[in-house]
Amino acid sequence: MASSRKPPRPHAFATLVLHAGEGAHAAGDPVVPPLVQSVNYVQEPGSDDLMYTRYGNTPNADRIQKRLAALEGAEDALVLASGMGATACGLLALLRPGDHLLASQYLYGGTYRLLMEEFQLMGIDVTLVEPFEPRAWRRRLRKETRAIFIESPVNPTCRVLDMRGVSLLTKELGIALVVDSTFASPVNFRPLEHGADVVIHSATKFLNGHHDVLGGVVCGTTPYIDEVRQKEIVWGQTPDPFACWLLERGLKTLDVRVQRQNASAQRLAQWLEGRKEVRRCHYPGLASHPDHAIAVDQLDGFGGMISFELGGGARAADRFAKRIKLIRYAASLGGVDTLVSEPRFSSHARFSPDERARVGIPDGFIRLSVGLEDCDDIMADLEQALR
Ligand SMILES: Cc1ncc(COP(=O)(O)O)c(C=O)c1O
Repeated sequence: MASSRKPPRPHAFATLVLHAGEGAHAAGDPVVPPLVQSVNYVQEPGSDDLMYTRYGNTPNADRIQKRLAALEGAEDALVLASGMGATACGLLALLRPGDHLLASQYLYGGTYRLLMEEFQLMGIDVTLVEPFEPRAWRRRLRKETRAIFIESPVNPTCRVLDMRGVSLLTKELGIALVVDSTFASPVNFRPLEHGADVVIHSATKFLNGHHDVLGGVVCGTTPYIDEVRQKEIVWGQTPDPFACWLLERGLKTLDVRVQRQNASAQRLAQWLEGRKEVRRCHYPGLASHPDHAIAVDQLDGFGGMISFELGGGARAADRFAKRIKLIRYAASLGGVDTLVSEPRFSSHARFSPDERARVGIPDGFIRLSVGLEDCDDIMADLEQALR
């Protein structure tokens, strides 16, 4: 696959989240870009230059696609109706029946289902790999292997995968390395800088950041994004203009939100690690985290996601969940409000207890998405709920 990276950026990241992809402005232009809710656009009779919302080429989608490409340092980007839509269309643009995909065994539950149930029905074979095993990827290669898919940091265990070995392998073989970078956001990690070919996000999470938009993003080369667009068009995975408009609004504060979430999460993780009720705290910014050295090397920030295991198991988790007051118990993540969820009831609900334990999610496992509330207030709520 040709390189999907663009030349160096013209502005710093904090500026790009606000302005990348904008044209020149003139007196009388609105500072806030208008929402163009129209699905249809008048055409020259006889022209095939069709603008239509499902084609992903209408004004609000177009603006945000340019900006997201700039943030990931990619040639091009496409916004889709959800993170799952992005993963499905992003991979279907690379794989055909008879092809083989290698994927990390540490995946968001919905992605696991897509790969292990839907793709298998389509004749695309998927092998799950323990990525922390030496030579894991190379040993499971087949001549039909077309791509490697990883998620990093991993939902919900916050494991961080080393990009070095896997990206050298995909370059050597000329196959695609696809990274779901939802947990990091481009503030903390830009996979294309580490040898990935494709970056996927659930934009529902940090990119939008306000728990009010469902969306997804795929970034890569222009020819590849054209292929993804064909999948988006026929599978009907395009977002509505209003979703794009809201996503643009959310993106403007991405840098400040994530910097603050990084700082609060580091403090909370250190505090949680010292609590007697907590058996283990998983946060890449902790020296005790198994991938701390990789995280220091590859990430620009350790992120707003923490998970922890309560010594009292499922019963302690039930008690904790009922006691939180400021923090809400809700699925999803990456927004301004602090949320907790239990993967056994949400992202990994379809896994058996044994399968969950195999991927590092025992009962009593709590995922914490740190929001923008004052860190002392979040800590006080955690403390009263743990006690
Ligand atoms: C890592 C990751 N990837 C993809 C998705 C799917 O995103 P969406 O819910 O926007 O379809 C999620 C959702 O939780 C996720 O956590």
